[in-house]
Order: sequence, then structure tokens, then C-alpha cells
Amino acid sequence: MQGKYRALWLNDENFLEVIDQTKLPFSYETKVLKTTDEIVEAIKDMTVRGAGVIGSVAAFGIYTACMEVKSYEELKEKALLIRESRPTAVNLMWAVDKMMELLKESSNLILDAKKYAIELNDEEALESQNIAKYGADIIEDILKQKNKTRINILTHCNAGWLAVIDEGTALAPIYEAKKRGIDVHVWVDETRPRNQGASLTAWELTQSGVNHTIIADNTGGHLMQRGEVDMVITGADRVSANGDVANKIGTYLKALAAFDNDVPFYVAIPASTFDFDIKDGVKEIPIELRSEDEVKYMRGVDSDGVVREVLITPKDSPAINYGFDVTPARLITGLITDKGVCKADLEEIEKKFRG
Ligand code: MRU
Repeated sequence: MQGKYRALWLNDENFLEVIDQTKLPFSYETKVLKTTDEIVEAIKDMTVRGAGVIGSVAAFGIYTACMEVKSYEELKEKALLIRESRPTAVNLMWAVDKMMELLKESSNLILDAKKYAIELNDEEALESQNIAKYGADIIEDILKQKNKTRINILTHCNAGWLAVIDEGTALAPIYEAKKRGIDVHVWVDETRPRNQGASLTAWELTQSGVNHTIIADNTGGHLMQRGEVDMVITGADRVSANGDVANKIGTYLKALAAFDNDVPFYVAIPASTFDFDIKDGVKEIPIELRSEDEVKYMRGVDSDGVVREVLITPKDSPAINYGFDVTPARLITGLITDKGVCKADLEEIEKKFRG
């Protein structure tokens, strides 16, 4: 469903090439990442973002690092730099650890790393396809229960193919529903301060011809009270063993509003998003703190087509910029995973994913 674009690929020279997501929706540009430092910088400055894609880039980051080292011991230092480039999305640590484990006995680091990174990404793409099918089945069920033909889905931030290859997580069921001929309409939360909803999700949905409306972050509760949201689907950056979900800041407030209005609240995730070492997500998941400038400045395009950043606050007022929040499991209707729908609950998660 992602059509003519993909979030990342190996180019003809065998270097990683990515869509520069900081340029969207104003221009489509790609970047070739040739060194570990460039990979780390691209994750930090959000040239690439979204939990799954960060993991995918990290896997190719290890491959890139292999071109710069002579031994596995040297590779460990580079791996650490990649592992620490952002703190909340566990897919990053998962991908680095998995690659390093697979490469332990390797006698040809570059060749093996390339093969393992491609395999890891192929698995993620397959998981995304399964999430699409299970999620679209839920959409069909909700329409049947309500005896409706059109579904209104609210999503927060960007959890489409720009965030997880190949179809995304939260948007994957939406793309599949459209393929099944369902009339889907998406409420797109803008997600201040970086506006990943307004700039990325809206762009993605436009590419795929999915009917959508951008709303200010604060509009969701109002729409739910008026019966204009049939379900919420978000992605996640980390899910703890007890089913608490870390996702883009503001997700928690959407979940509270959904709970209060009996709107089903689903979270779509691949297996790599679980962190079984964290027992209580609300207390333990590390939350990224980003620059206050992201809150104080807005980026946009002027009437001459020039992209500009403008200050929207008193220059000296302090701001604080948490990237994520944690939604407690009790507010979540279900986790849409590649193995089917699972309750956000310790026992069920253990049985399905560790048993
Ligand atoms: O800061 P970002 O843009 O990397 O955050 C992205 C999100 O919060 C997504 O909703 C999340 O990664 C889920 S999709 C894998």
C-alpha cells in the first residue's frame, strides 16, 4: 500500500538510503548514510523516526559499522553509539542486540551483517502485513456491530510505513481495510510539537488515497463525545511486560477520553516492541526529553515556497518537551500484534509471546 515509496533501502552502491522525514511534507528528499556517525545523527535529528524504522536503520547501521572496523570487539563500540542514539523506542536496542548476537561467531562481518539486516527487515515487513490483516478484521467487526458502512478511526502521531516497514502498524489495518473496499475515514492528530501526524500521516494517507482530516491534538475528546470516532488505533515505542504502552506524547490523554466515551482503543505493534525486562511501564519506561526549541518554534512553508522556522512564544519563556507518555494497560482494549489480537495483560502477553 505504500505504493511508489519506501522508508529505507540499500542503494546500488550498497549504502543505506532513507527518506529524509524532516523535509516532509514540503519536499521529498532522500539521504545516503555512509558512516556510523551519519546513521547515529540521522536517528538523533529524526531524519528517520518511528520505532520500527529506527530499528531497521539500526540494523543497517551495524552493517555500515562493519565496514569501518576490523574485529567484533571494535564493532561493539560502534554498536553502543547506535544503541544510545534515542532512549524510548525499544526496537532500536532490540535490533542492535539481535544483530550483535547473530554476528558473534561471524568470520565475514560485512557480508553477514548485510544478510542479517535484510532478513530482520523482511521479518518486520511480514509482521506488518499480519498486523494489517488482524486489524482490518477488527474494523469489519466494529462496522458489523454498529451496523454502519463507514468507519471513523482516530490515530495519533505517525505509525504508518514511514515508521515501520512495510505497511506500518497503526495505519496497516487502515490500508488493508481500504483494500477490502471499506469506506475508511481517519482523524489525524497533529501531534505537537513536531507535528508527525499533520506532516507525515497526512502525507502518507494522501499518497495512498485514504480519506482523512487533520485535527488539533486537543480535538479528539470532543469528537468522541459526539460519537464521531468509532475506534482509536495508535502504534507504540515500547510495551512493558504488563501491557503498558509508551507512545508519542498525548497518547495517554486520547486513551482516557476513549475510555470515558466507550470508544475501543487499540495499539498495533510488532513483537520487537515488547520489553519483557520492564514490569511496570508507567514507572519504568525511559521517556525522551527533547530540545525546548521544538516547542517554541514552528516550522512551515511561506507563500514563496520557502521552509521557515518561526518563534511562537516569548523568547525567554522556558519550555519542556517530553517526547512520549505511557498509557496504562487498563485503558487499552487490545494489542493488535502479528500473532493476533492480545489483551494488554501480563498473563496473556506472556502466554502468546514467551510461551
Ligand atoms: O518521535 P517519533 O516520531 O519517533 O515517535 C513516533 C511515535 O511515537 C510512533 O507513534 C511510534 O513510533 C509508533 S509506530 C512504530
